[in-house]
Amino acid sequence: MQHQAIGVFDSGVGGLTVCRELIRLLPKEQLLYLGDTARVPYGTKSPATVTQYALESAEFLCAQGIKLLVVACNTASAVALPQLRDRFNLPVIGVLEPGARAAVASGGHRIGVVGTEGTINSDSYRQALLNLAPDTAVFSAACPLFVPLAEEGWADHSVARQVAAEYLAPLLAEKIDTLVLGCTHYPLLEGAIRVAVGPGMKLVDSAAATALEVVELLERAELAAEEGTGGQRFFVTDVPTRFRRIGMGFLGAEFQSVEQVHIG
Ligand code: DGL
Repeated sequence: MQHQAIGVFDSGVGGLTVCRELIRLLPKEQLLYLGDTARVPYGTKSPATVTQYALESAEFLCAQGIKLLVVACNTASAVALPQLRDRFNLPVIGVLEPGARAAVASGGHRIGVVGTEGTINSDSYRQALLNLAPDTAVFSAACPLFVPLAEEGWADHSVARQVAAEYLAPLLAEKIDTLVLGCTHYPLLEGAIRVAVGPGMKLVDSAAATALEVVELLERAELAAEEGTGGQRFFVTDVPTRFRRIGMGFLGAEFQSVEQVHIG
């Protein structure tokens, strides 16, 4: 039933990394996904603008009758989570805290964090990591070209490998042992990032950790679907053509439907 759905949003295809994990772990749950493709990227915009976009995206999903909201965007999680929790009367899970917890759990001591300018400038990852493990050394780098490369579907392009090498060199010079992919678009570029950091680096992406927290929360709040065959509906704020093309590989499945909607 529609009002039993889990709502998930991101600025574009990045949040599909979280969606994919949710589908795998929660096959009975119905998912509603919104990609705010008309306004991607969020990561280069001010906290006030991202907060407004996040509230409008959440408003749209809440109007469909969701029981839980997953903010599958690190930028929105970094700057808009308190406002989202204040405004909407339902559980809201972001990707940043689960990402930080997964990085600490992986045993890293010199942790590199890559994310959008908005996420890195907010300093939220550093604070979350230091709260969990005060002795950790944290090094951050904004990688603004990663999101357009992912949205363009250039994950395996030589340009992506060159850009990754450029952005990650300063973090490698700090001898990091773990790298947090602090943007839900970045797992799309994992191949290029892996070439740059080498086989020994621990790569942490918050998608799996976030999906596990959703499972726990649904159980705790007694919100889990007891029966159901799942199913997803996808919404975008621009024409769906590119989202369909790029997103499919990501989601690992055909889209059942992608509908264009106007929000805000
Ligand atoms: N995927 C989002 C994130 O995790 C946003 C990327 C963007 O729109 O700049 O930050």
